Amino acid sequence: MMESSNQVQNRVLSEKDWIDNWEKRKIGFHEADVHKLLIEFLDDMVNNRKQIKIFFPLCGKAVDMNWLAKMGHTIVGVDVSELGLKEFFEESNIPYVEEAVPGISGAKVFKSVSGNISLYCCNLFDLNETIVGKFDGIWDRGSMVAMNPIDRERYANAMISLMDKDCRYLLVTLEYNPKLHPGPPFYVPDAELEKLLGK
Ligand SMILES: C[S@@+](CC[C@H](N)C(=O)[O-])C[C@H]1O[C@@H](n2cnc3c(N)ncnc32)[C@H](O)[C@@H]1O
Repeated sequence: MMESSNQVQNRVLSEKDWIDNWEKRKIGFHEADVHKLLIEFLDDMVNNRKQIKIFFPLCGKAVDMNWLAKMGHTIVGVDVSELGLKEFFEESNIPYVEEAVPGISGAKVFKSVSGNISLYCCNLFDLNETIVGKFDGIWDRGSMVAMNPIDRERYANAMISLMDKDCRYLLVTLEYNPKLHPGPPFYVPDAELEKLLGK
């Protein structure tokens, strides 16, 4: 009998593993150009609204953040890698300031001087609505699929808790035979997404 994808995908990466990946430049997930699916589906997320507030869970240094900020949207991201977040601002030539985060011990937030991009350096699970508020849109590329499978349900609930009532959530997944690759990115079957986020 074929093993379930959960049995095959039992790999667990720690915060330190991700921070080390950044330091060792193992960041093959980073793309130099704006994601083509974001371009294709942006209108579905924005839905005729102006200057919406968009969340980038597990943001890395995604260039998509600057692209959307330049359109007038407000961007909030989170990543455990300080290096990645600083590289985002430096490579985009965006001046930024660094502040402590009241309520999360040891966390920092890097904010563009213009105020429309705030990137939190901490574990996603340390953020909550009191700290970042709710969002009109979520762009999830390399985030749900990067989560350790054991944390997937907790992750989905965290996303739901940050969605405002008209929030639109774009999620990129990929399909492959999970027996052939340990992940991340992990294979998240459509049926599981439906179970986690369908409501
Ligand atoms: C696959 S990368 C995707 C980055 C980005 N979304 C992109 O499209 O380029 C996953 C990122 O999540 C970060 N990360 C992993 N687990 C995290 C967690 N629990 N909290 C915050 N960041 C995390 C890693 O440092 C890494 O930058």
